[in-house]
Amino acid sequence: MKLYLDTANLQEIKEIAQWGVLDGVTTNPTLISREEGDYRKILKEICDVVKGPVSGEVLSLKSDEMVAEARELSKISEHIVVKIPCTVDGLKATRILSQEGIRVNMTLIFSANQAILAAKAGASFISPFVGRLDDIANPGIEVIKDILEILNNYDFSSQLIFASVRHPEHVRQAAILGTHIVTMPYRVFSLMIKHPLTDIGIERFLNDWKKR
Ligand code: G3P
Repeated sequence: MKLYLDTANLQEIKEIAQWGVLDGVTTNPTLISREEGDYRKILKEICDVVKGPVSGEVLSLKSDEMVAEARELSKISEHIVVKIPCTVDGLKATRILSQEGIRVNMTLIFSANQAILAAKAGASFISPFVGRLDDIANPGIEVIKDILEILNNYDFSSQLIFASVRHPEHVRQAAILGTHIVTMPYRVFSLMIKHPLTDIGIERFLNDWKKR
């Protein structure tokens, strides 16, 4: 199971990388907009720290412009994966880019049918947004189950990224289902390590040791 950080903040990335559990990073235009500086420079700095797949999203909506943008982004580092939204233009661009060997993370996926098309177009990664589905009372986990089964049924090579993670329970659910990758905010990474019984246990052990 691979764990990615969903952020463009270099401090957060450096910290989780130091934990020794970080496999990659996903960004999106909202996350990049929170950081100072040039977009490409930010992605380069992230790639230098992570040395694993780093998703950077295109801003164009037309397929030929997406392709041009993706080619430029992919020159930043061998680790760059280009994020492309799941639209008709996005599919066209994904087909061209995947044939050129540029890895695509097809994003903003909310249904199994969108995932089928993304996989057929050659997307290396497929990102269903679980939290945003949950937000509208449409259980995102059901979409994850369907997509995993479909990928398995047809031996597609695309990997599923469980995205829009809101809490550690999403990570547990993803792992139980055998999801290839989960991308989560720094807050959720921090919550995963916490358990009150661990803190109480440490305190008790140390107190007992002092009494010796
Ligand atoms: O990776 C996708 C993610 O950034 C979306 O998360 O929390 O904005 O729904 P959220």
